[in-house]
Amino acid sequence: MQAAPALALEHITVTFVSEGAARFTAIRDATLVVRPGEFVSVVGPTGCGKSTLLNIAAGLLTPSAGSVRVFGEPLAGLNRNSGYLFQTEALLPWRTALDNVTIGLEFRGLAREVAVRQAEGWLLRVGLRGHGHRYPHQLSGGMRKRVALAQTLILDPQIILMDEPFSALDIQTRQLMENELLELWSANRKSVVFITHDLEEAISLSDRVVVLSAGPEARPIGEYEIDLPRPRDVAEIRLTPRFIELHTKIWQTMKQEVLKGYEQQKNQ
Ligand SMILES: Nc1ncnc2c1ncn2[C@@H]1O[C@H](COP(=O)(O)OP(=O)(O)OP(=O)(O)O)[C@@H](O)[C@H]1O
Ligand SMILES: [Mg+2]
Repeated sequence: MQAAPALALEHITVTFVSEGAARFTAIRDATLVVRPGEFVSVVGPTGCGKSTLLNIAAGLLTPSAGSVRVFGEPLAGLNRNSGYLFQTEALLPWRTALDNVTIGLEFRGLAREVAVRQAEGWLLRVGLRGHGHRYPHQLSGGMRKRVALAQTLILDPQIILMDEPFSALDIQTRQLMENELLELWSANRKSVVFITHDLEEAISLSDRVVVLSAGPEARPIGEYEIDLPRPRDVAEIRLTPRFIELHTKIWQTMKQEVLKGYEQQKNQ
């Protein structure tokens, strides 16, 4: 018997109803299934519903229709098997880097010394040894992302949900972080849902890329297995013929949607 998928979003529809505004169906009949240990990226134009889909997976939002299963069990409330890396900065400014990393363990009731020891291990793993005493405003953007990564991974989630985590970084820092993410992930393969609007980033990181259509009523319109060898260097893999072949193929599907998304935003 096959193991249950880590995450199964099936026939998901999300309609937002806000007072004084028309109903808005952001997602219509979307299905996304992620296997244990699989790295899946979801790409799509801005505003199409990527964050909304991730919020459904995290249990932060209940779909208007459709089902969410986590390791075969229907999801009720928050998805406790998942860790969430937000699109925006989510560190607490009044806590040091170290104390930001210990937060989750403290909520779980671990003794302070145990939490601190584990957090120091994670700061080391994300390349921040000796920076634990600094506050978020004393760290660079890349360093803050590393703290956020440690904050998420320390809880050892079975499913890691990432919403454009590196999009605010410069390209070199971004590629460094992507390589580090792949290294951390391959040491201890968890399921990852990685949201991005950047097709190159999606291909270089993933086992599979899912393309969402432009909204409203966004849904997956293409799924592509990425058969590039691992371990990968995200900068170098982009220069290989197979990468270019995959990129060309997926871009054919994505191009129209990006144009549509852009037009819609202009007319809003
Ligand atoms: N709570 C809400 N109420 C009403 N509309 C919403 C709500 N949340 C999101 N939307 C709308 O749903 C659509 C999808 O939003 P979402 O944030 O999921 O897009 P996205 O693909 O993550 O965009 P981006 O690439 O810019 O981050 C957008 O049109 C947005 O305005
Ligand atoms: Mg978003």
